[in-house]
Amino acid sequence: MDSIFFMILLFSLLIPATAKPETFSTRLSPSELGFKKEKLTHFHFYFHDIATGPNATAVRVAEAAMTNKSSTFFGAVVVIDNPLTISPEINSTVVGRAEGFFAAASQSEIAFAMVVNFAFTKGKYKGSNLSLLGRNVIHPGVREMPIVGGSGIFRYSRGYALAKTYTSGSNTGHAIIEYNVYVFHY
Ligand SMILES: *[C@@H]1O[C@H](CO)[C@@H](O)[C@H](O)[C@H]1NC(C)=O
Ligand SMILES: *[C@@H]1O[C@H](CO)[C@@H](O)[C@H](O)[C@H]1NC(C)=O
Ligand SMILES: *[C@@H]1O[C@H](CO)[C@@H](O)[C@H](O)[C@H]1NC(C)=O
Ligand SMILES: *[C@@H]1O[C@H](CO)[C@@H](O)[C@H](O)[C@H]1NC(C)=O
Repeated sequence: MDSIFFMILLFSLLIPATAKPETFSTRLSPSELGFKKEKLTHFHFYFHDIATGPNATAVRVAEAAMTNKSSTFFGAVVVIDNPLTISPEINSTVVGRAEGFFAAASQSEIAFAMVVNFAFTKGKYKGSNLSLLGRNVIHPGVREMPIVGGSGIFRYSRGYALAKTYTSGSNTGHAIIEYNVYVFHY
């Protein structure tokens, strides 16, 4: 009898504990985290890819044994820390940097797989970053690449970047690319 009573007591202690599952997720409303009205912002800047000289900002870090036989540089990987300026001149106001890398990833045309974080250093976007991930086929027209997210002001952001070569840099090693970036963010 005693042991049955003890078992009932034991279960009555255990049941509330086991019936309440451990939780690791909680439903929230966006406003609880300060996400209120979604905004659409257009950014316009120039991206300086400086591949040669003492102040190079784009360095080739890897390539395949066959890269130098490939007309599309297939296998080359370049790491960048490129300044972003408000107008095409390198001495115009710097609004941020493009940090990341790109890899020549096509055997049939010059096309880069781009992995780039735009780290802004000016105005209210200072300290916030946008992440671009996309395919960049090198041709004179406009290339579109997705903006896949961001941090700071750009939490939950998404959008697209339109890139157009302003100066190819084939003689100087200094290519200037014009970027128009459209992002939804809070
Ligand atoms: C490299 O940067 C230094 C310091 O900003 C500058 O004085 C120099 O003129 C630059 N050199 C070139 C080739 O741009
Ligand atoms: C290509 O690179 C390989 C190894 O990296 C080297 O042995 C070869 O000489 C290079 N070929 C040319 C044409 O530069
Ligand atoms: C930038 O440099 C050019 C010469 O290369 C000069 O004419 C111009 O005044 C400079 N601009 C600024 C904002 O310093
Ligand atoms: C954005 O990038 C900069 C530079 O890399 C970094 O210092 C900063 O912490 C980043 N901001 C956020 C919100 O992650």
